[in-house]
Amino acid sequence: MLLPFILTAFLGATAALAAPQADDGNTTNLQPICATNANPHDIAVIEQVVENDKTTMKDLEDLELGDLSDEEEDEDVDDAAHYNPNHMCKKIYKKIRTIKIHWHNVAANNTREGGYLKKKVILKQVKYIQKIYKKACLRFYLKGVNHIYNADWFNNVAPGSPQEKALKTQYRHGDELTLNIYSVGLVSTPGLLGYSTFPWNFADDPHNDGIVIHYATVPGGDYPHYDEGAVAVHEVGHWVGLLHTFQGGCSQPGDFVSDTPAESTPAFGCPKYRNTCASTGSDPIHNFMDYTYDKCKTHLTKGQLWRLVKILKIFRKLIRHH
Ligand SMILES: *[C@@H]1O[C@H](CO)[C@@H](O)[C@H](O)[C@H]1NC(C)=O
Ligand SMILES: *[C@@H]1O[C@H](CO)[C@@H](O)[C@H](O)[C@H]1NC(C)=O
Repeated sequence: MLLPFILTAFLGATAALAAPQADDGNTTNLQPICATNANPHDIAVIEQVVENDKTTMKDLEDLELGDLSDEEEDEDVDDAAHYNPNHMCKKIYKKIRTIKIHWHNVAANNTREGGYLKKKVILKQVKYIQKIYKKACLRFYLKGVNHIYNADWFNNVAPGSPQEKALKTQYRHGDELTLNIYSVGLVSTPGLLGYSTFPWNFADDPHNDGIVIHYATVPGGDYPHYDEGAVAVHEVGHWVGLLHTFQGGCSQPGDFVSDTPAESTPAFGCPKYRNTCASTGSDPIHNFMDYTYDKCKTHLTKGQLWRLVKILKIFRKLIRHH
């Protein structure tokens, strides 16, 4: 399919988790923010492609995504052979490929505060990603972990930086369906938790593809309120093509997902109730694509799961036709 390749030339490069810059440089009260660079025009173009693809998705339409039981929750994600998707997913597993993860652990030194992550911790993070995305019948497999000692990269891999380019150029592995995760310190960008490329960026800039996260956001990390692994789940959301729940504010079509109510601005903390738009439904504060604390985030909706499968099919060759 030629269209995506043409389109990517026009599209913004990253969904960045960018910190707001305080005017006086005082970063004490910065709220971690995930600001996306995808502009509404680009998103509309992508949406057109997704819409046009509808007729070819017939073989997936019977699948009730999101209805998987949790029975294989404790599966060993480190061992592909042990993965046992329920029979509903087997129907499409015949045709889809596993998403391999290459984890690049960039550290200043081999201490925890220097960014060093033990394999056990990385596996916990992968397991959390697996738990959420298996509802879209996806399987993630940790293929390898690289420990990279580089203080400059640890401190300065900000979106669009020369350090980001150097790191990714040297270490990115695999094709469009290979997830490269870079854990770094993001020291020079306080408040930044991570950022990701979108699937539609791949053709134009394959080396840039992947997600970057703050090392302390992994399960058992020590980033205040963002230390249970939901940041990586959120960034993987962008990597599979999801937008923020507050994309476009209260105006339609927002995030292009019909079962995530519109939200005028990101939500922080874990509010008991929040409703910032006149349209039906209160704000999706428990959704992984909002900015609430990790403990507040619980799910992706069926609409999001359905959409990401379609986008992966179009832009990351998720399904191989025989
Ligand atoms: C930064 O802001 C916080 C809260 O507003 C304040 O308590 C602190 O004194 C400020 N720090 C500096 C260096 O201005
Ligand atoms: C390791 O790196 C971190 C972050 O730069 C630093 O705070 C810490 O002092 C370093 N520890 C050692 C033992 O060099």
